Order: sequence, then C-alpha cells, then structure tokens
Amino acid sequence: MSGHLRAGSATRRRFLMTVASATATTALGTIALPAFSRSSQRPVITHGVQSGDVSTDSGMVWARADRPARMLIEASTSDSFKDVCHASFVDALPETDFTAKALLENLPAGQDIFYRLHFQDLLSGQAISEPAVGQLRTAPADRRSISFVWSGDTAGQGWGIDPARGGMRTYATMLRNRPDFFVHCGDSIYADCTIPAQQKLPNGETWRNIVTEEKSTVATTLAGYRGNYKYNLLDANLREFNAKVPIFAQWDNHEVMEDWWPGETFDRRGYDIKNTLLLAALGSRAFHEFMPLRFTPSEPGRVYRKISYGPLLDLFMLDMRSYRGPNKAPHEIQYGPDAYLLGPAQLAWFKRELKRSTAIWKVIASDTPLGTIAASSPNVGTTAGRGVEIAELLAFMQHAGIRNTVWITADLHYTAAHFFDPNKAIFQDFEPFWEFVSGPIHAGTWTPCALDRTFGPSVVFQSAPSREQGDNLAPCFGLQFFGHMAIDGVTATLTVRLKDVADRVLWSTSIEPKFDQTAHRRS
Ligand SMILES: [Fe+2]
Repeated sequence: MSGHLRAGSATRRRFLMTVASATATTALGTIALPAFSRSSQRPVITHGVQSGDVSTDSGMVWARADRPARMLIEASTSDSFKDVCHASFVDALPETDFTAKALLENLPAGQDIFYRLHFQDLLSGQAISEPAVGQLRTAPADRRSISFVWSGDTAGQGWGIDPARGGMRTYATMLRNRPDFFVHCGDSIYADCTIPAQQKLPNGETWRNIVTEEKSTVATTLAGYRGNYKYNLLDANLREFNAKVPIFAQWDNHEVMEDWWPGETFDRRGYDIKNTLLLAALGSRAFHEFMPLRFTPSEPGRVYRKISYGPLLDLFMLDMRSYRGPNKAPHEIQYGPDAYLLGPAQLAWFKRELKRSTAIWKVIASDTPLGTIAASSPNVGTTAGRGVEIAELLAFMQHAGIRNTVWITADLHYTAAHFFDPNKAIFQDFEPFWEFVSGPIHAGTWTPCALDRTFGPSVVFQSAPSREQGDNLAPCFGLQFFGHMAIDGVTATLTVRLKDVADRVLWSTSIEPKFDQTAHRRS
C-alpha cells in the first residue's frame, strides 16, 4: 500500500508525528528520542537508494528494508531539508521482498531534488532506521543544456564484484560525468549466469568474486531473480551512482534467460522449468520490484514507455523481448505473430507517440541493436521475419516526417557507431539515421559481430577486443564502455561521445537537428 500526503494537510501532520514519535534524526520538527535506540532493533536499509523515471514534476524513489517496515519519504530542494516539498509513505512487506518504491510528485522542474528515506518497523511502530539520502534532477520545462549517459550489461559472464579490482568501476566513471540521468539499455542482471568464486585470467592472474547463494545457480525462482539484483547492489560504486543519478531502466533478455521468447519450451541444464512464460513472469516481477520504474496500471509488467524530458528531448524506451515471435529463420515476409518484434500494440503506441512528439530530439533506446535483428529474406528486395516490423516503422517515420531520431543500445558487449543508409540497404524507404552502441558496464567484452545488411548499416567506429584477446574479455582489461549524449540548450546540437571505463573519449560526433516545416503536413 502507499499514501501520498499533501503538505499542510491533517494527514501530513500525522505523518510528521509518526516520524517524530520515534526518532530524533529527521529535520521535520521537535522530535522525541526513539523508544528503541539499540542498533540491532532498528530496521536497516539493505541496498542503498535509487531514483528513476523522472519527469518535469515527479520521479520514482526506491529502497529495501530488512523486515516489514514503512518507508517514510521526504523530499526537498535543499540538502538541509529545511523546506520539505513532498512527504509520503509506502509499506515494504514480504510480498515484495521488502522493496518499496513511490512517486515523488509536485516537484519543481529542472531542479536538484534531495530525498530522505527512513524505514519504520511495522511490528513495534517504534524502531526507525538510520536515514538514507539520495538526489535526482527533474526534467527541465525550459530549453536548457542537458546530458545523459547510457550503457547496459551488468555483471555478466561470471564477472562479478572483485573488491581488489575496484568493483564495478564503470559506474564510478559515469558518476564523474555528472549526467542528468542514466539509461540502462538492458541486461541489468544475468539471471542465467552464475557468479563463481574465481575465474582464471589469460595473464595468469585470478579474478576473485564476492559470492552469494542466489548467484551460485541460475535463477528459476522469484528468490533467485531477486538475488541477482541484490548481488549487483552489493557494489559500492553502483550504490553511490544510484543515490545520485536517476535511472531509466529497460530490460533485454538476461533479466529472464538468454535469448528467450514468450511461450518458448526448452530443455536447458540447471532449469527444472521448461517454459519461458513462468520464468518471464518471475523475472518481470523481480525487475519491477528492484528497478525504480513507474507502474503502468493497464499492464503492470510493461517496460516500454516514453519519457518527456523537456523541449529538447523525448526518450522512447522500447521492449523487444516481451512481445516477440519465435526465434526462427526469417522466412515470413508478411506481418504476423511469427514476425513480431515490438508486437502490434507497442508498434501502434510508438508510432502514435512519435507523431505526437514535439521535442526536437527523439532518442530511441532499444534493447536489441537493429543491425543484429535478422531481417532479410533470400529474395533480394524484401524484408522478412522481424525486419518486416522495423521496415514498417522506418517507412512510417519517413512518411510522417519524424525527424531527428537517434537510436541507442548496448547488448553487443563492445562500443560502436553505426550509420544506416538507404543507399546501401535492401529496404530503402527511410531517412538515414545513427545507432550508437555502448556497453558492457561490467561484463565480458566480445569481438565485433557481423551486421545484417537489410537496412544498410556501416560501421563508422568500433572498439572491441582484438582477435588475439578473443571473446569474453574480463572487465579488468579496460574495454568497458558507456555513451554520453549532450544537447546544447541554445543550438540544440546533439553531441555523442563513446567513452570507456577510464573516461577516455574514444570517438565523438556532433549532429545538427533538422527543422523540416513541411514534413509534418505530408502525413
Ligand atoms: Fe548482455
């Protein structure tokens, strides 16, 4: 359950009294000492705090307790919490593994917001946790310079937290960039990869992981899926990043299982479940419990959504996993269930929202790179399989005059800039566009893969292991990547930088927006 308390209301006064009756640590007023002050009796915030899905006037916050507890939430525009602009609560119960998340509302636009969370023990009503403080920045309502980072692929291929090697260092590097927000393009966990105590490195050294019971087997239960998120949150870099930067979380395949599709039956080692529907339900539940996504009442498991980030940027978060058709050779040239990628409902939503968008830039976050979605039929000149839907989408964008679209993704486990050009493509009814690939954050790095040529991609830049270094290169060899995007408030120029764990700019480009006044009338 949750409650939102308006400042000045009788309910809010009760909230303040609830906090005040048990702790001396909040800044909400004159406060009595807690009835239980011994630390062993106080609830504990187990995995730091997170925020996400910020808009111009709101944002989600998240934390987890160690017992049934009420999360008491305050927000303010100053870190002194002198003027509290939001107060609410949500109860963390075993049904959500004691995770709690709530929407901060009525926030000012384009502001740094500080939030402070306490957990109140629901059994005693008296014991209250130490506070945890986080911050987020709301989206601007006016035209000002903005920047964000994106990446994907966290703790894959058995590369977990090795404290002697600094843990998941890319999160610390991303934090140094002080982005307005972070887009996680998916593979936020690797539910189908275990984390062993150690792995041998090609240079003779040993990688030593922190280990947990849940990460000693592949996830097939809700506890197992939850354990994957809890493992990542053991990393101090990640927790510090979460406390300071709001996340827009997307999912790819490893939040459930390698390359799954809905309804697939399978027989894999380590799995007593043989159908992906149950695994996907469990994985989805844990994803929504542990990631600070907003809740969509009409479809509680929905991941796809649009983020309006002021006049310069609309961000489209796609879900190419939950509605896709079977994995099979792309023979189908008609659009039907076998060719689904986004699926008809999401595709219709996406077209509608693209057309409605008034933001100058439309950044499309995709869990799967377009150049790796098998798309060609043997008959030259036609698209097939999942390419049918992409072709329809790109043609729609062309005919409806949707300009200034850029695609971002992770998934390949190396970084690249791909330029899609109709003059080099089999399917040609689209405007040229960029796709920028960055990742992994903390996983094995792979040698480059071949791109499907249906939509005419060129590899303008890539950084990946050499053939000698081979696949699944450990994170300690420096080939961990994230991307940085900045939009200038005056010129609206979009600057893209592909960066590595050492914060080096490996490649960058600046793109001027197009303003085509006649284009919208053609639709
Ligand atoms: Fe991945």
